[in-house]
Amino acid sequence: MLADIVVDLQYGDCGKGKITHHLCKSGDYTHVLRYNGGCNAGHTIYHEGRKFVTHHIPAGVFFGIKSIIGSGCVVNPVQFFAEIEELEAAGIKTQGLVFIANNAHVITADHLAEDGGDTKIGTTKQGNGPAYRDKYARTGLQAKDIPSFQPYLIDLYEEFHNTNASPRILCEGAQGFGLDIDHGDYPYVTSSHCTTAGALLNAIPPAWIRDVWGVGKIYETYVGQKNFEPDEDIFKTIRDIGEEYGATTGRPRQCNWMDLNLVTRALNINGVNKVVFNKVDVLRETDTWRLISDGKVLEFDSENDIKSFLTNTLAGDHSDSDREFFFSDNKNGI
Ligand code: IMP
Ligand code: MG
Repeated sequence: MLADIVVDLQYGDCGKGKITHHLCKSGDYTHVLRYNGGCNAGHTIYHEGRKFVTHHIPAGVFFGIKSIIGSGCVVNPVQFFAEIEELEAAGIKTQGLVFIANNAHVITADHLAEDGGDTKIGTTKQGNGPAYRDKYARTGLQAKDIPSFQPYLIDLYEEFHNTNASPRILCEGAQGFGLDIDHGDYPYVTSSHCTTAGALLNAIPPAWIRDVWGVGKIYETYVGQKNFEPDEDIFKTIRDIGEEYGATTGRPRQCNWMDLNLVTRALNINGVNKVVFNKVDVLRETDTWRLISDGKVLEFDSENDIKSFLTNTLAGDHSDSDREFFFSDNKNGI
């Protein structure tokens, strides 16, 4: 039995889908589990030269691995079936591979209508907040209450604990640390748990954890109502080169330099032992290597300088296993 967990170190959109897709290629996993969020997430995946954006269905489906929408998630039935159709139409087999935890919660038309207007924090308007509110108010609907979901339902306890098989589970998070309901910049957060702890809420015992992959970007982006991007032209350039527009809503993502303090907190609270920084090629094109530490902008002379600074500074002095670092360009493997 083992579980590897993929978490986002910043505000989402750091490339978790790409890392999950890459890890699936190892053939090491029996299950891929989406453990939080709803269709607010957009996971962009390049599979065999084609681009896919999934919202609910985990990346395991591209490799014929059982793909589960976990109990920490909220599911919009209309979006779920649209995704099934889209994948099937593209020749990706979903039958007998895609499952929904029977105790996942449902995003209803009322949730969508409520979240659809202009919200104070700038949500994705996918009904996420109202669905989680009703879950905790004990007035929500669970997946098992929805007739059309019946063929897809799975009991996580039976699947992971009460069979003879030893599951090897890749847990794929949605959103990111800065959007986490507890550790994020409240109230500019999503309504679910985007950390390693959120994965454990899906019938995963802590002792099963092997690797925690922390995925970040070499700069930072955020989508929502708070003022995030400094008024400097370089960030517009970064947005264009990095194609920083929301996968779900198409909104321009606000850009800034990586906040080292945020990433440090995310690494430590999530217990990350494998760190990936994506989109290094975007800063390479601007030939500007900066990050923010304790509110001050630090400038580096070269790509190598910033990489060795990050590797040394973020190595961590209180983790019992060594942190490994990977740097990756846009659209390439790690
Ligand atoms: P909600 O999750 O739709 O309620 O939105 C809450 C906040 O999280 C807003 O600032 C959204 O833009 C942000 N958010 C939600 N999902 C994602 C995502 O997948 N990527 C980036 N930001 C997200
Ligand atoms: Mg995304």
